[in-house]
Amino acid sequence: TRVDKGGHKHFMAKEIAEQPMVISDLLQAYLSEDGHSIDLPEGGIDFNKIDRLTMVACGTAFYACLTAKYWFEQLAGIPVEVDIASEFRYREPPVAGRTTAVFVSQSGETADTLAALRYCEGRADSILSVVNVPESSIARESDLALPIYAGAEIGVASTKAFTCQLTVLLLLALKAAETKGRLSAEELTDKLSLLRGVPGAINQVLEADQTFRAATRLLAESDNALFLGRGLMFPLAYEGALKLKEISYIHAEAYASGELKHGPIALIDKKMPVVVMAPKDQLFDKTVSNMQEVMARGGKVLLITDREGAAEAGDGVCQSLIMPEIDPILTPILYALPAQLLAYHTAVAKGTDVDQPRNLAKSVTVE
Ligand code: G6P
Repeated sequence: TRVDKGGHKHFMAKEIAEQPMVISDLLQAYLSEDGHSIDLPEGGIDFNKIDRLTMVACGTAFYACLTAKYWFEQLAGIPVEVDIASEFRYREPPVAGRTTAVFVSQSGETADTLAALRYCEGRADSILSVVNVPESSIARESDLALPIYAGAEIGVASTKAFTCQLTVLLLLALKAAETKGRLSAEELTDKLSLLRGVPGAINQVLEADQTFRAATRLLAESDNALFLGRGLMFPLAYEGALKLKEISYIHAEAYASGELKHGPIALIDKKMPVVVMAPKDQLFDKTVSNMQEVMARGGKVLLITDREGAAEAGDGVCQSLIMPEIDPILTPILYALPAQLLAYHTAVAKGTDVDQPRNLAKSVTVE
């Protein structure tokens, strides 16, 4: 079937707009009819038999894995290692004990990820993949392949596949937490009902699209940008920087907020916009103090937060983008939207080829 832009200027815009729908479909596929439990496909995994997860991927899928590490460790108490496929495959890492290896790939054909999977065959207890293409090599060679139901993604810069990967990985972490007795049936039902609110919250963000467009002026005029985040926002800072460099060719770097003083603060001046992703969560105050260090040195801060966060952040922020309130564990899925929209509008403002950025390929099937 041919996929068209459905009235959008770019495939990327269409794919960003499709996220509420595809995430709803995904939840419908994975949740029981009453919405109280998570149904994994036949031959699912028994988290009581798993001591450790090794997650391997490339690009945006790697950042989905980094996010999942926080979820699996915090919710389920399962230690997680996350690796870039091209590093993992040649390092000869020991895959010890009761390890499940997890491979995340939109295409299911990325050469390095597939090679990493083959390395784990006969070493890991079981091989799980999270893919968008169920017929792909990675899906076929796994013991269990979990589809993300994102539909065809044409834009080279991944958008809806990322939020769908996150959603599937969060469902897995919640399932693990339930199995390990760290989440009661009521708590799980509660989390799942909050998760079902995500598509609505994404729609709210999409309705505020103009605000994001207006906010990109600062970025479009700059040669560099820094993205900062803490906790669950740390991997997302990476994803924001990746999106921006991929399609607008602006040099963007991401750092864990706490690393600011270990190097990147030397780069701060009036010409350095700093995107800070910080919902009002437990770590908010710490991120605010990093933000103040940036502002004290003339750095221009673009703060992505919620209403409460914006009120507490105080003066000096160049621009605040207000996000809907959402349960802290769900913030990565929602805050992926500003990461995508900032990059998209900046690229449009600069007139670059949004869907086919120079030198990049949608799927890297050769090394
Ligand atoms: C390429 C694409 C990225 C993608 C990465 C991994 O670099 O441009 O958008 O994240 O490959 O692809 P995969 O299909 O394995 O998720």
